[in-house]
Amino acid sequence: MAPRKIEIFDTTLRDGEQVPGCKLNTPEKIEIARQLEKLGVDIIEAGFPISSPGDFNSVVEIAKAVKDPVVCGLSRAVKRDIEVAADALKHAKRPRIHTGIGTSETHIRYKFRTTPEKIIEWAVDAVKYAKSFVEDVEFYAEDAGRTDNEYLARVCEALVKVGVTVLNIPDTTGYCLPEEYGAKIRYLKENVKGIDKVTLSTHCHNDLGLATANSIAGAANGAGQIECTLNGIGERAGNTSLEEVVMVIKQHPGLNLYTDIQTRLLYPSSRLVSDRMGMIVQPNKAIVGSNAFAHSSGIHQDGVIKFRETYEIIDPEEVGVDQSSIVLTARSGRAAIAYRSQKLGYHLTKDELDNVYQLFLDYADRKKEVMDEDLHEIMKISNITARV
Ligand code: KIV
Ligand code: ZN
Repeated sequence: MAPRKIEIFDTTLRDGEQVPGCKLNTPEKIEIARQLEKLGVDIIEAGFPISSPGDFNSVVEIAKAVKDPVVCGLSRAVKRDIEVAADALKHAKRPRIHTGIGTSETHIRYKFRTTPEKIIEWAVDAVKYAKSFVEDVEFYAEDAGRTDNEYLARVCEALVKVGVTVLNIPDTTGYCLPEEYGAKIRYLKENVKGIDKVTLSTHCHNDLGLATANSIAGAANGAGQIECTLNGIGERAGNTSLEEVVMVIKQHPGLNLYTDIQTRLLYPSSRLVSDRMGMIVQPNKAIVGSNAFAHSSGIHQDGVIKFRETYEIIDPEEVGVDQSSIVLTARSGRAAIAYRSQKLGYHLTKDELDNVYQLFLDYADRKKEVMDEDLHEIMKISNITARV
């Protein structure tokens, strides 16, 4: 069977931007949207137009600025929200309204104080109303992760009947286990009449650190779209990280899935978002963290210098990182010193390396990391000159 495409729905500019203190202005959002277009995302969720005039304006400008991706605006299942979203998207070449409502018992009983049947009525009305403005309408069943599967299937079936194009199944609170979330998607695939006419989407939060695993489980069980953000930014513990799901899919051909993401743009895109949002990426973050391709222990350094794949499952260039780094610390061995020295033009004999290594250990005990300047100094003390 030919691999199945997974559409990448990027919500960095909507769910991602809900991070406290990370507000972007319109030019910054346009810059990021253009980068997302180059990166090859299929859908850009540009904002929540009713939430503020600034957000409305950003959605308008992003819709004008990009041409290939679908541009999506969020709305609640409320007429006025839908009208404003439709208005903000009027310049989009491929507009999508993303509307929805909570479907879990907690949401129905405590947030809406209503009945499950009434929720289905509101959902159907919202999708019908959104369809009167745009063809492409996505519905989110908020807190689907904690929604009873049988009821969720009834919600989905009612929406398929009125022409919804994408059904988003959010694990809003990041509660599900991967097997549970995958089984939920499979249940909907097998029990909702007409489900093959629509795309099922994952939207997983990372409260238990399971967002990537859950999204992959959803995709493996039939979802055709993954919602995610660069660097995994988002409320609380964040959203599914785009770079992680894309690289899991790429590194595991056995999943028989693919995306259209230009993976060499992952690192520069991550840097752009981190910089514009003023939000540092944790050093040990998978794929884009500063330590993701850095090796500091002697055993690993020796292995990776002899054969990169000993300790690296991804070629750093594939994600836009120039090269792996060999970090010199007190745990580094001779192989690492020789390697880094050679990069600086010092081709050491065995005796020279033995001498340099002793001096290096003095430096390494005094400093956390031995830098290129320190190596130059060590060579000077040892009377060793560089050769080009
Ligand atoms: O997490 C969530 O449920 C959401 C919806 C609004 C899609 O962000
Ligand atoms: Zn969310």
